[in-house]
Amino acid sequence: MSAKASAAIRTPGVERLQAPHAQTREEELEVTLRPRTLDDFVGQERVKRQLAVFVEAARARGEPLDHLLLAGPPGLGKTSLAEIVARELGVAFVQTAGPALERKGDVASYLTALEPRSVFFVDEIHRLPRAVEETFYPAMEDRRLPITVGQGAGARVITLDLPPFTLVGATTRTGLLTTPLRDRFGVTIRLELYPEEELARIVHRSARILGVAIADQAAAEIARRSRGTPRVANRLLRRVRDYAEVVGGGEIDLAVARAALELLEIDEVGLDRTDRAILAAICRDFGGGPVGLSTLAAAVGEEPDTIEDVYEPYLLQRGLLARTPRGRVATERAFRHLGATPPARARALF
Ligand SMILES: Nc1ncnc2c1ncn2[C@@H]1O[C@H](COP(=O)(O)OP(=O)(O)O)[C@@H](O)[C@H]1O
Ligand SMILES: [Mg+2]
Repeated sequence: MSAKASAAIRTPGVERLQAPHAQTREEELEVTLRPRTLDDFVGQERVKRQLAVFVEAARARGEPLDHLLLAGPPGLGKTSLAEIVARELGVAFVQTAGPALERKGDVASYLTALEPRSVFFVDEIHRLPRAVEETFYPAMEDRRLPITVGQGAGARVITLDLPPFTLVGATTRTGLLTTPLRDRFGVTIRLELYPEEELARIVHRSARILGVAIADQAAAEIARRSRGTPRVANRLLRRVRDYAEVVGGGEIDLAVARAALELLEIDEVGLDRTDRAILAAICRDFGGGPVGLSTLAAAVGEEPDTIEDVYEPYLLQRGLLARTPRGRVATERAFRHLGATPPARARALF
């Protein structure tokens, strides 16, 4: 894969807690920790039941699975599920990302080379260039791929027949998908932020794989501060493990977990420095809001997309932020979290 393509499938903001040199090692670890089967995939019980039924039905009929759209914030298991679906179906898994498909020809070379019934995974599918997106419509619907050969007066359109395949698309926001594309998915699965109890199970599972001993209370503490996101839970676990190795015998108990999380500047509700910077900007610089997304992004030095995909879902869920037609608003709880006094207006609103 080209450097550009691999950069394109990296999720914005996920590396924010790690040193740059640690990235490759972190990515390796992420692969190690990835669940391999539906049983291995912790939580999201309704989603797993749905997928198990679809997979079983497709397998029994010997047909490819319906095209599947996986939606939800970064780090909730979309890529993992796509791989799991292919494995459970016993078919090949081919992976790319929306921004890496620059031309129709890129799509053609992928699709024509697929083994029958393969899972073709397109990450960040909302970032497909429009002209490329349109080539997916007949491909998804009729397994046809019209392509233009030759140029100028000699140009003509020929139609390629494609092998049966399942398109699995992943997106951080379904709202960014065009209706024609969205409508061509037979199934849409939305992943929600995980409850603490499921995150604690993920921490225990990962600790087992990493070979580190962890107390229940410590796993619960990491879970509580993981902003509903398995990828964050795993990342915090690794940082806490590093800390445990340096200061103690390597075992993670509650005191070690707390001390390490403090060092990472993760507060007791799971907010990191950027989360707090976002809230502080709204509360202090913009009087509690409303403030537009791009203005807010500029104020904290982040990409608007990163704010919307990575930070907002958790701040909304915790009731610290609200979205209004005129922009983002800090809630009374946000003011209190920062140790500030909410203005009368915020008290009236919330
Ligand atoms: N349900 C889950 N159970 C166990 N681990 C999970 C689960 N969901 C995600 N993870 C972990 O989080 C990491 C990120 O998951 P990933 O599938 O890459 O998320 P996404 O593609 O949605 O950004 C994986 O490496 C995996 O270890
Ligand atoms: Mg992914």
